[in-house]
Amino acid sequence: MKTHRNPTVAVPDLRRRRILGAATGALGAAGLSGAAYPFLASLGPSARARAEGGPVRADLSNIEAGTMAVLAWRGKPVWVLRRTSEMIAALATRSAVLADPLSARSNQPGSCVNATRSERPDWFVAVGLCTHLGCTPALRLDDASLNAELRGPGGFVCPCHGSHFDLAGRVVRDMPAPRNLDIPPYHFEGRDGIVVGQGATDAATASKV
Ligand code: FES
Repeated sequence: MKTHRNPTVAVPDLRRRRILGAATGALGAAGLSGAAYPFLASLGPSARARAEGGPVRADLSNIEAGTMAVLAWRGKPVWVLRRTSEMIAALATRSAVLADPLSARSNQPGSCVNATRSERPDWFVAVGLCTHLGCTPALRLDDASLNAELRGPGGFVCPCHGSHFDLAGRVVRDMPAPRNLDIPPYHFEGRDGIVVGQGATDAATASKV
């Protein structure tokens, strides 16, 4: 496997921004239509490698707590949300309203079958496509009725048929979406790097080859 010394995806300056009003459109019709999140502009690996589904690297150092950015992997939008401590704490309080709180019937790496559905509690990484018919849910942080339903701050709402998800991508009961949002294989590199498309176990194996 080709190795990279430095993160190969640059993150725009997000310090004063939460959810931006426009994405770059670089992902085209693959699912970002209607989304409005900072886009992680890829500097590599090569376009060919990305088209073939290779792992994509990103530098997360500029993403502040409570904000989300998007990167493209295999033609899909992959969300990277940096959760606050309040968001993380709320994940443990809402099992009763969720269809699959333990993610027993959902798609994620084994390392993400846990209370936060993530490798690290403060980072939520998921394919940003609704598991019903593939629309792109919207992040809602200040929706009082959604927060009351989820008993905590923030969630996602699908604009097509109204499915609700919490900030671990877990779908609320009796929604059209049949399962929680899918989580791709990924792992972290150091403190601020992430590789989407390759799990930690695969990365460890590749490094020995
Ligand atoms: S596509 Fe999301 S609820 Fe139908």
